[in-house]
Amino acid sequence: LINAEYNDVWKEERRFTLMALRKCGMGSLRMEEKILREIKYMMADIDERINQPIDLLHLLSQTPANVVSTIVFGKRFEHEDPMFLKLLDLQFVFTTKVNRLGASNLFPALRFVPGMKYSNELHSTVDNAAQIFRKYIEDHRKKFDSNSEPQCFIDMAISHIETLGDRTTMTYDSLSYTLWDLFSAGTETISMTLSWAILYMMLNPKIQYKLQAEIDDVVGASRPVSTTDRP
Ligand code: HEM
Repeated sequence: LINAEYNDVWKEERRFTLMALRKCGMGSLRMEEKILREIKYMMADIDERINQPIDLLHLLSQTPANVVSTIVFGKRFEHEDPMFLKLLDLQFVFTTKVNRLGASNLFPALRFVPGMKYSNELHSTVDNAAQIFRKYIEDHRKKFDSNSEPQCFIDMAISHIETLGDRTTMTYDSLSYTLWDLFSAGTETISMTLSWAILYMMLNPKIQYKLQAEIDDVVGASRPVSTTDRP
């Protein structure tokens, strides 16, 4: 979706992706359960490192990446899983490089300046990730049962491709790239937003106290914050 040409294939992938994400509970309270579960793992990691330096950006990437993985693969990764770390690493390399190109979106002439164009290096980062996702697609294809209701995004996509056959433009190859789009769309956006928020709170302790006071007042200390707490 992000790294694809705008054509009929793109349109079908987008339609399918939005429908499948909705079916997987995106934007609903079911999603909140998944998020809260991952936050518990994150808090446990933070608790283990009290009084030690901590790379929050890394932790804030693992948490949303696992929320997305639960939807996409129907499972979460252990934080030390080498494949998970590899995907996060590729994602970090990709966004660091692609962010530099932001200015050429606004001023297209900049693409003629060396280093300001979507390079082969960026293509190969995405290809490496898609390669990893192809392995997961294969695993899911082996276990796929057309008689049972698909539980995660990959299984829904397999069902779509197998059921429609020639009548769909979606392929297992295009799926591997869509999985990367979802993984990176759901990881870097959240980790950057949260790390900026934390950084601002560190620089503005008064705001931090105000936020904490509101949480104490509305939610208390005995349960996590929920979207149902919104006024
Ligand atoms: C703070 C977090 C996030 C930010 C700032 C953000 C930002 C954006 C933006 C700016 C767009 C483009 C909208 C448009 O031009 O129509 C977009 C689209 C999209 N985002 Fe996010 N996003 C975030 C989180 C997520 C998460 C967690 C996912 C889940 C995987 C996700 C999946 C998508 C998808 C699938 C689209 C395409 C929607 C469409 O084509 O209608 N995003 N996002």
